[in-house]
Amino acid sequence: MILAPSILNADFSRLPEQVKAAAAAGADWLHVDVMDGHFVPNITFGPVVVNGLRRMVDLPLDVHLMIDNPDAFLSAYREAGADWLTVHVEAAKHLWRTVDTIHALGAKAGVTLNPATPLGHLEPILGQVDLVLVMSVEPGFGGQKFIPSALDRIAQLAEWRRLRGFSYLIEVDGGIDQQLAGAVIQAGVDVLVAGYAVFRQPDIAAAIQRLRTCKKDS
Ligand code: DX5
Ligand code: ZN
Repeated sequence: MILAPSILNADFSRLPEQVKAAAAAGADWLHVDVMDGHFVPNITFGPVVVNGLRRMVDLPLDVHLMIDNPDAFLSAYREAGADWLTVHVEAAKHLWRTVDTIHALGAKAGVTLNPATPLGHLEPILGQVDLVLVMSVEPGFGGQKFIPSALDRIAQLAEWRRLRGFSYLIEVDGGIDQQLAGAVIQAGVDVLVAGYAVFRQPDIAAAIQRLRTCKKDS
């Protein structure tokens, strides 16, 4: 299991310290939630923050673009240091071309969808992407309650991958804590995003260890 702490709930007065602590404790990736105040009712980080993160730690930067018109910002986030660029199917008018552009920039391409968007909207593109991000909360904020139907979507994506010989990673994002980690891994998750369960805990290293030791539900 790949663990990707989300910095959305980090203490931005101590970001380098917290990000380095997460890396030292065994975080595999850093999940970076980019929000534009249009696609979601919140605003977070521009490429300048991604560039700062790039210089803080040597971890893959998993950039989740919760923005309208992602095509306009792909190269800026890639140049800033993003390794993975994930776009929302609801925001990408020409998703095939967007995925091609991400690959042409030398990054890995992810797609994602809001909890109420039919999973079938991703089917035509599944053979082209490196990652599918299952939103288990409505995008925009950390610390929300897990939406259980995400488990069925994870299982369905794992089944499609097996039957069709696809190779995308399955990532889950939103409301994940130690209690839920086993269930999502059991359903087929490869990459686990956790914000609140890592950066809002008194001991980041202990929080990461708790998540890392979660195995498939027995
Ligand atoms: C929500 C973001 C999530 C969030 C993590 O739009 O995509 O990555 O920051 O959620 P929690 O804090 O619930 O782990
Ligand atoms: Zn996210």
